Amino acid sequence: MTTFRNFIGGQWVAPSTGAYFENRNPANQDDLIGQFPASGVADVEAAVASAVRGFEKWKRTPAPARGDVLRRVGDLLASRKDELADIMTREMGKPLAETRGDVQEGIDTAYYAATEGRRLFGHTVPSELANKWAMSMRRPIGVCGLITPFNFPLAIPTWKAFPALLCGNSVILKPAEDVPHTATVLVEILLEAGLPPEVIQLVHGMGEVIGKAIVEHPQVPVISFTGSTETGRFVGETCGRMHKRLSLEMGGKNAQIVLDDADLDLALDGVLWGAFGTTGQRCTATSRLVVQAGVHDALVSKLAERAKALRLGDGRVAGTDVGPLVSEAAREKVERYIGIGKEQGATLVCGGERATGGALDKGFFFQPTIFTGVKAGSRLDQEEIFGPVLSVIRVESVEEAFAVNNGVRYGLSSSVYTANVNVAFRALQELDNGITYINAPTIGAEAHMPFGGVKETGNGHREGGWEVYEFYSETKVGYVDYSGALQRAQIDNY
Ligand code: UN1
Repeated sequence: MTTFRNFIGGQWVAPSTGAYFENRNPANQDDLIGQFPASGVADVEAAVASAVRGFEKWKRTPAPARGDVLRRVGDLLASRKDELADIMTREMGKPLAETRGDVQEGIDTAYYAATEGRRLFGHTVPSELANKWAMSMRRPIGVCGLITPFNFPLAIPTWKAFPALLCGNSVILKPAEDVPHTATVLVEILLEAGLPPEVIQLVHGMGEVIGKAIVEHPQVPVISFTGSTETGRFVGETCGRMHKRLSLEMGGKNAQIVLDDADLDLALDGVLWGAFGTTGQRCTATSRLVVQAGVHDALVSKLAERAKALRLGDGRVAGTDVGPLVSEAAREKVERYIGIGKEQGATLVCGGERATGGALDKGFFFQPTIFTGVKAGSRLDQEEIFGPVLSVIRVESVEEAFAVNNGVRYGLSSSVYTANVNVAFRALQELDNGITYINAPTIGAEAHMPFGGVKETGNGHREGGWEVYEFYSETKVGYVDYSGALQRAQIDNY
């Protein structure tokens, strides 16, 4: 069996605990990927001490040179795209087409970061006083603790790590327990690209131990977390108490709205991809289909037919549409929601059970599931399931559709299928989400655009695009008075 290590203090090292956990393929539990460190608090201590040293050097490296490292990272990711996709599918299950897309997001994020090394703009503005210069600039902050989920094992660590590094910070990465292999290869690539060793630390282990120790460490001033709203609340409380800078990306309950004038075939393709891609395990997954009465029955009958025809299986086998859930716990959670849906009077039109038989018996497969007759306000309408379960809600009007979309505590993404340009622009204004798609599914964020949600999905920050560079850097203002005299602002000039 392969034994993997942490990367701490510029070296690949065994955990101080001597303990390991196993990582197995969710499509085939007989397939053991390896054992990974079940690290302890002492490992986090060592990682922080090293990252502090790494920061001292890296922050003095010119930003364009930091960008060169990230450009080489992009090149290496591109040259190892297929290998990385295979590693990812093996450890978390989504089909190879999707894990290739995941790597591509990392490549795009790397090249964007590389060019940002030659921007990182500050402002130069006129001073209110004569013979005085006024400007702002971006400064790095320190050690960034990055806690990442299993569903985008490469893309999400890159969304956080690349801008953090470009801005001159050092990084401690704590990947989800389900996807430690992908994170290991990412760190290998960063090092091969020329990142100074102490600038990156990789600590494997359990969130309750390692994630917690990173969040609570006084020498880690920046935390970025993607995961559940429940864990995010603990992270937020701790960071608030300790005055840390924090970016949270949490749950979603995203709706695709289909109006009477929509192109139904397009809407159908969109909802199948949005609801069952990544086996529904995206924070941007379409978990609600809000359909106007005039097209409801036609859409639902076609949808059930198409959902039943999706091919479940090992994501590494050609022709697989939907892979397994990531773990038995995830499958049990989905099963609980099938019971809740039935209890609350929704109608199960397809799926609702484990997918079994033959090779499927070795993995955590679940049939793509659709409930109709879901009532706004019921638990299927309100709660994030993170699995292949779609709740269909019938509405009479555009106003009702918008109200259903907005009637949840989350606000990540939404989508509206309509041919009416006026309604499309109203949706962009009125839907309470960080992202709204018109005539496209609720998933499909691009690396150079800000990503994030409103309400309990996040805490106001964005990943990706230009905004994330503000999160990972501090604004510093410089004034140079070259008048040779004391000039008192707001006093001598008025
Ligand atoms: C997530 O759902 O956790 O837009 C991230 C998308 C992807 C990123 C999703 N590019 O679905």
